[in-house]
Amino acid sequence: MKLLVTGGAGFIGSAFVRLVLAERPDCRIVNLDKLTYAGNLENLASVADSPRYSFVKGDIADGPFVMDLFAAEKPDAVVHFAAESHVDRSILSPDPVVRTNFYGTFCLLEAARVHGVARFQHVSTDEVYGSIEEPHDADEQYPLKPSSPYSASKAGADLLALSYRTTYKLPVTVTRASNNYGPYHFPEKLIPLMISNALEDKPLPIYGDGRQIRDWLYVDDHCRAVLAVLEKGRPGEVYNVGGSLALENVEVVRRILAATGKPESLMKTVADRPGHDRRYAITSEKIERETGWQPCMPFDDGLALTVQWYRDNTDWVRRVKSGEYRDYYEKNYAQR
Ligand code: NAD
Ligand code: DAU
Repeated sequence: MKLLVTGGAGFIGSAFVRLVLAERPDCRIVNLDKLTYAGNLENLASVADSPRYSFVKGDIADGPFVMDLFAAEKPDAVVHFAAESHVDRSILSPDPVVRTNFYGTFCLLEAARVHGVARFQHVSTDEVYGSIEEPHDADEQYPLKPSSPYSASKAGADLLALSYRTTYKLPVTVTRASNNYGPYHFPEKLIPLMISNALEDKPLPIYGDGRQIRDWLYVDDHCRAVLAVLEKGRPGEVYNVGGSLALENVEVVRRILAATGKPESLMKTVADRPGHDRRYAITSEKIERETGWQPCMPFDDGLALTVQWYRDNTDWVRRVKSGEYRDYYEKNYAQR
């Protein structure tokens, strides 16, 4: 089985590559990644020498390049993680977000169709449902109501992928996961940003009243869900993947401060995110029923592991927080 994994140098994609190489000895992986600011080959140092792993640097939105790659590699299946994944960056600069998330997905679908790929697993997000009013939890039939350029580009890509199933019979599956956290998470997202700022005694910027709700999922639980759908999911189907744990942002930050031994006085209220979704909440009954998958990591254990990882990997953090990160941080936070 040869898998073409896109975005395998990012946070979740690299966890998926490590998991598959460790647990599926019959799988080979070709990792296609553009190495944007979020792509980091250090995340794959432990597998770089594996004879079952190879890396190709390239852009999923370069159609001719993608078509040639499929002709050369002839993958059996595609697991598509590559994306511009950060909502705040999508608000500041939507152009690369739409290009990669929507047009890049199109280029991959076209190449998969032309080359008759046996499975296309599209990795998406619960953000496509938009903000969900209490007391509802979204199942896979819930209407799509994305709020940001990021979530709208992902919703568009989901629909395009599903249209390839309906129109061309390409065996597409779609997973929509909730907020991931864990090691190697780029420190622009809530949990890694708050951990790394707390460890450096820097202010922790809370958007608005901080009472927005997110459902937290440990990254390895997400990767096992993607693998379960790849192996057992039904073509043409969408599967929600949640951690069954809804927490307000301020509660998450308080737990991070407790885990790092830092004072609550580091919390700083800043201007809210434009179009900020208030609440995400999904039900994962379908994937549990059809594949047997369940999230395993309790949040406080996962958070403790994650905090320890950031304590142990200060060189990784220092490198990713240099250069481009400083410009982004200034742009996103200076005016708040
Ligand atoms: P990430 O930002 O950490 O990594 C994205 C990867 O994609 C990087 O390695 C980057 O170099 C690569 N990439 C970006 N543009 C590319 C292009 N044009 N061509 C090739 N490679 C490109 O993202 P992540 O958090 O690991 O998310 C992975 C996927 O999971 C995304 O599709 C995202 O929408 C989805 N998702 C993320 C979360 C989350 O909480 N992080 C939750 C649900 C779904
Ligand atoms: O729900 C899945 C999605 O989760 C994924 O599709 C996205 O790729 C991923 O980035 C994430 O999106 P969010 O916008 O929910 O995650 P983020 O970590 O950016 O923010 C989580 C919450 O924390 C959100 O309510 C905004 C808030 N926040 C975030 C940052 C970065 C703050 O209060 N302060 C901050 O500095």
